[in-house]
Amino acid sequence: MSDKIVLTGIKPTGMPHLGNYVGALKPLVEMSRTNKTYMFIADLHALNTVHDAAVLRRHTYEIAAMLVALGLDLNNAILFRQSDIVEVAQLSTMLMNVTPKGLMNRAHSYKAAMDKNAAAGLDTDAGVNMGLYTYPILMTADILLYDADIVPVGADQKQHVEFARDIAGYFNNTYGLTFKMPEPVIGQDAGVIPGLDGRKMSKSYDNTIPLFCASNELKKKIMRIITDSKLPDEPKDPDTSTIFQLYKHFAQPDEIAALRQKFLAGGMGYGDAKKILFEKIDSVLAAPRAEYDRLMANTDELDKILDNGAARARIAAEKTYTRVRQAMLG
Ligand code: TRP
Repeated sequence: MSDKIVLTGIKPTGMPHLGNYVGALKPLVEMSRTNKTYMFIADLHALNTVHDAAVLRRHTYEIAAMLVALGLDLNNAILFRQSDIVEVAQLSTMLMNVTPKGLMNRAHSYKAAMDKNAAAGLDTDAGVNMGLYTYPILMTADILLYDADIVPVGADQKQHVEFARDIAGYFNNTYGLTFKMPEPVIGQDAGVIPGLDGRKMSKSYDNTIPLFCASNELKKKIMRIITDSKLPDEPKDPDTSTIFQLYKHFAQPDEIAALRQKFLAGGMGYGDAKKILFEKIDSVLAAPRAEYDRLMANTDELDKILDNGAARARIAAEKTYTRVRQAMLG
């Protein structure tokens, strides 16, 4: 066991894809075996885009079921809903007062929204709510409230963790040492996990394979992977093949070596290679997918897990919050 506290949040906005699984979820589940891990479903963060409570609730269950199905170690991992810990909103309000507005102006996600508006000839703040604008402050509150040492995130969230460090620094300078300095740990770049069209797997390219879907849907998606036009007899390059690159993340070393050989030797058509890939992914994900389906049909069980997680998370949250209150309000 490591004594470092790991923390991360996942926004409940839909089923993750295989790129998320390989780049983020699998390593997280592994970390939960060796570290005390706070894992929450960031429903408060989702509120800036999801305005339907029933949809948000369903997506929240989906993320919880997925993590449990993937084998999150619930002894070390504290799995909870962000919104169940009221202190996070209180801390966020307090942190606003040591956060320069200019820092928020520099946030990549806010700037991207402004650029998009400008390109469309709209007012730069059109459709930007304060939830989006102050998103990094709430995320800072998440990180600081549980005394996190390590924050595993995708590259797109790195700036937010740096903001958390900045804000912790401003606070500590003003009120004395109150917060630990969290370290971002950037997961394997999802760019190495290709999508159906060979570009990196990403929702914005519409080229994803969902982590859990029915077997026949998985097969259909895999059959749609774009390949070059080499004939079955011709030797093929595994290193530029989306099929082989995906296979590498699911198969054992001897199987990977065998498929590489088949690519190089020629005599195997892409259709057959896709079939091998489908069977591999389907068999690796079969057990977790069944567990996922079972949990989604038993949301009471998920509520129990999440309530239990919230009770455990609250212990740390109350402690930190008392410290902050003492520092700011006396
Ligand atoms: N903003 C993160 C995302 O969109 C989710 C998140 C919320 C998070 N709070 C966090 C990640 C705290 C790490 C730490 O992916």
